[in-house]
Amino acid sequence: MGNPKLLLKMKNILLKNGHVVDPLNNVDFVSDLLIIDGRIKSLSKNVKPEYENLEVVDVSGKFVVPGLIDCHVHLREPGYEEKETIETGSRSAAMGGFTTVVCEPNTNPPIDSVAAVEDHVRRVGEKGLINIYTKVCITKGSKGEVITDMEKFGCYRSVVAFSDDGNPVLRKEVMVRALHTAAMSNKPVSPHCEDSGFYSVKDVTEEELGFSPSKKFWNEANFVKRDINCAGSIGCHVHFSHLSLKESIDYISEKREQGNITCEATPHHLLLDGDYRDINGEIPVVNPPLRSQVDVQSIQKGLSDGIIDVIASDHAPHSLPDKKSGAPGIIGLETTLGLVLTELVRPGIITLRDAVLKMSTNPAKIFKISGGSLLPGMPADVTVIDMEREWVVDINSFESKSRNCPFQGWKLKGQAVMTIVSGNIVMREGKIVF
Ligand code: DOR
Repeated sequence: MGNPKLLLKMKNILLKNGHVVDPLNNVDFVSDLLIIDGRIKSLSKNVKPEYENLEVVDVSGKFVVPGLIDCHVHLREPGYEEKETIETGSRSAAMGGFTTVVCEPNTNPPIDSVAAVEDHVRRVGEKGLINIYTKVCITKGSKGEVITDMEKFGCYRSVVAFSDDGNPVLRKEVMVRALHTAAMSNKPVSPHCEDSGFYSVKDVTEEELGFSPSKKFWNEANFVKRDINCAGSIGCHVHFSHLSLKESIDYISEKREQGNITCEATPHHLLLDGDYRDINGEIPVVNPPLRSQVDVQSIQKGLSDGIIDVIASDHAPHSLPDKKSGAPGIIGLETTLGLVLTELVRPGIITLRDAVLKMSTNPAKIFKISGGSLLPGMPADVTVIDMEREWVVDINSFESKSRNCPFQGWKLKGQAVMTIVSGNIVMREGKIVF
């Protein structure tokens, strides 16, 4: 999951006088946080700096939170290294305050086998600067036909869920089998409910789909309803990726009591509607597409009501030529926190505690990732946030290889100023220092 170098180089750190917010442990007060040997040692006032090799950092006026987790990112390695790599994606994540990410499996080759998972673990071990987990495809090559050997991944800590990223599982019967198999591995299935560029609801019959289809790009709620109903009797956890429609949120709200259903939303579906034009006057191309103002408001309401459990960026890097030829996707690792703080926390749509819940505590719980908590003994994955820092989104300053960001020029207030992974300071004051 991580680079062994992180465990070898760590030092001891005392964060003095920060406002610590840790929703899992009901912490919301000013305290010191002591990190020894890569783990949280204590959270209490007036810790004495009496440890060897200790760096004392004054974080008065800043917020100290459990390391942020982005459970939906594309690091594009192997196969599309011109867009992003594990190294550049790690740097981008650390800049944005993320100590941990979960990669989508639509690489080339796709992550749909034990060999591909082992290759990913090796690459992460060599080049990762943060904690990096992965999802494995639900079906071989994400083609929606033959399900992968999901039951084999139960014992792989680096594998946290199953997803055919970018493609829906068209056939109900395949989804039912996938839910049964995933249940054996005790890991969630994370369906993509959008129609893809490759597979359309028109490719299969209504009977095979399990619902009567709407037009292209309008089937999200149909898939959500079908998959919730299938999961009900099987007991597999379903975590819906990047929802965009009011109808999907309404249905999840109605069925929440069934249990085992969680979902996420992206900053772009939370903040932009289909009328938005970026600084160049262009409509951001993304899948699912940007929707109506009613949908945006419903996603925001779902977030504040607790129906939406997670904010995830769907960091989807693309080269300029690929974007020009219509590739869908928006990068988000370096903007998500600033957007959430400026556009959702400041106006009071959610609290800072909610933001930490949805960007650390909940993803850790849903994907059974060791993190999301500052309890003594936990790995020292910590993010320090300056709520007052004003900055302007500038794509040319990004550590990501890609530039497909519709927020260029936005004025934001609030930013991560330190990212600590396993007791190592990886980012400090906007610079990668590890
Ligand atoms: O816009 C998107 N891009 N949505 C997805 O679901 C996939 C992603 C990608 O891989 O680029």
